Amino acid sequence: MNGFDVLKDSPWWRDAVIYQIYVRSFADANGDGIGDLSGIRSRIPYLVELGIDAVWLTPFYPSPQIDHGYDVADYCDVESEYGTLDDFDSLLKDSHQAGIKVIIDIVPNHSSDKHEWFQAALNAAPGSVQRGRYLFRDGKGDNGNLPPNDWQGLFGGPAWTRVTEADGQKGQWYLHLFTPEQPDFDWRNIEVREYFEGVLRFWLDRGVDGFRIDVAHGMIKDPALPDIGDNTAELLEYRAQPMWDQEEVHEIYRQWHRVLAEYPGDRMAVAEAWVQPASRAARYVRSDELSQNFNFDFLCSTWNADEFRRVINSSIAAVDEVGAPASWVFNNHDVVRSVDRFALGLIGGRGGSRLNRQGDPSELDVELGRKRARAGALLMLALPGGAYIYQGEELALPEVRDIPESALSDPIWTRSGHTDPGRDGCRVPLPWTASPAAAHGFAEDSQLSPTESWLPQPNWWGDFAADLQASDETSALNMYRNALQIRHDHPGLGDGKISWLPSADQVLMFERAGGFICLVNFGSEEVSLPESTSVILSSTPLVGSGVPMDTAVWLQRE
Ligand code: BGC
Repeated sequence: MNGFDVLKDSPWWRDAVIYQIYVRSFADANGDGIGDLSGIRSRIPYLVELGIDAVWLTPFYPSPQIDHGYDVADYCDVESEYGTLDDFDSLLKDSHQAGIKVIIDIVPNHSSDKHEWFQAALNAAPGSVQRGRYLFRDGKGDNGNLPPNDWQGLFGGPAWTRVTEADGQKGQWYLHLFTPEQPDFDWRNIEVREYFEGVLRFWLDRGVDGFRIDVAHGMIKDPALPDIGDNTAELLEYRAQPMWDQEEVHEIYRQWHRVLAEYPGDRMAVAEAWVQPASRAARYVRSDELSQNFNFDFLCSTWNADEFRRVINSSIAAVDEVGAPASWVFNNHDVVRSVDRFALGLIGGRGGSRLNRQGDPSELDVELGRKRARAGALLMLALPGGAYIYQGEELALPEVRDIPESALSDPIWTRSGHTDPGRDGCRVPLPWTASPAAAHGFAEDSQLSPTESWLPQPNWWGDFAADLQASDETSALNMYRNALQIRHDHPGLGDGKISWLPSADQVLMFERAGGFICLVNFGSEEVSLPESTSVILSSTPLVGSGVPMDTAVWLQRE
C-alpha cells in the first residue's frame, strides 16, 4: 500500500471543512423572502470557490416553523416554502457533481405538535400506545393540576403542558424541553427507535452523506423524571441533569452506527451534544458510535491565548483517548456571531441569545471583532481534524443587533416575555451584493427590498457583501478561500498532530507536519516572526516586520 492508499482509506469527514447552511437565510430562488433549496443549488459555484468539502443543511422538512424547522411535522418530505423532494434530489446531485458532500439535520429529540403521531396521542387515552411514543405523565397535586416535575423549558416557561382529554376535562401533561409545540419523544419506546431508523434509511437511500443530530445528548431522560430543585434554564443546560447525557443514549448511537456502516462511502453523523467535560463529550465519538461531536468548549472560549491553549489540549486529549479526530467550530445558528463575541469578550454558548444582552453593544468595535474573527479562523483551520464554518462567517459578518422588535421571530423572544431577543441576530439573510436590490442579492432577480426578507436586513448590511469582498484581495472572503486552498494542498494540514512551539506570553505557536507553523498573537505588542520561515498567509496584511496584535499567520519553515 502506498501513502496515497492510506489517505484514500481515511474517512473523508476526519478532516473535512463543513459549511453550515441555514436554509431559510442562504439564498432565495423564488423571491418570497425565504431561502430555499433551489437557492442553495444556484450558489454551488460560490461554495466550490470557497473550497469547502461538505454542507450541513438545517431542517427543511414540513414544519409549522415555530422553531424555524426544528419542529418537524414530517421527517420524510420537504417544506413547501423550501421546495420539493425533487428539488432536494437535484441539489444533492449537483452538489455531488461539484465534489461537495451533503449532511442533513435530523431532529430526533422532539417532533412538532403537528406530527401525526402527536396528533394521534392527543386524541388517544392516557396509557395508550399513541401516548407511549411521547412523555405523557399524570400531574401532581389535587386533580393532577401541578406539572409532573419542576423542569423548565430551555426557551423559558415550564417544560410541561397539560392537555384536555376527550371528556373535556384537564388531563395529563406532556414534556417539552423546548417550546410546547415541540413535544419530546420517549426514546425508551421501541417504535420510536424503529421509526427513526426508517427516517435515516430514507435519506441515506437518497444519497445523503451524513446527519447532524439535534440535541443529541437529550433523547434519554432519567426514567424517574426527578425534580432538579432549581428551575433556571441555565442549570438545565450546563450541569449534569436527568435530561442530559444519560448512559442509555449511547445505545441509540451504537445502533445508528450500524445503520450508517451498511452504506458505502463513509456516511457520517455529528452530534450536537452540549456535554462537559471534554472526556464525556468524547464518549459520543467512540469507534462504534458517532463520527464527530461539535466542540462547544472551543466555541465557548473567549479571546485569550491561555484559554485557547487549554481547550485545544483538552479537546485533542479527549478524542485521542477514543481514536476520534478533533473538530472545531466558532459559530452556528444558535449563538451570537464570533465577531461580536471576540470584540466584547463574551463567552459563546447555547442560548447564546442571552449574550445578546451582555456587554454594551454601543462599545462594540466591529473592526476589532472582525480582525479577531479572521485570526481565529486561521487558528481553527490550522488545527488537526475537521472544522465547521457557519454561513456568513467567511464574510466576517457581525451579529445584527438592530432588528426591529416587531420583526423578531425566534420563539425565545416570546417565551422570555420579550426580555431576550433570541437568536435572530445571527440568522439574517446573507448579503450577496452591496447593492440593496433583491435584498442584497439574497433573492436574485426579484423585486424584494432588504426589509422584505423574512428577517429584515439592516441598512449597513451591504458593507459586508460577498461581491464586494470577492473583488478585494484583502477581504475575509479571500482569506478563507486562500486558507481552504492551502489547507487542501498542504500535506501537514487536516488530520494529524500538533506540537506547541515556545512563544511569548499571549502568543500561541504550533507546528504541523511538513514544516507548517501557525502563530496567533492575542497580546497587545507586535511579535517577531520566527527565524527561517516564510509567510504563507496572514489574517490581516503584515505591514511591519512582525505580527501585529489580534493577528494569525501561517508560516512555512524554509
Ligand atoms: C438547535 C436549535 C433548536 C433546538 C431545538 C438546537 O440545538 O440547534 O436551533 O432551537 O435544538 O430543536
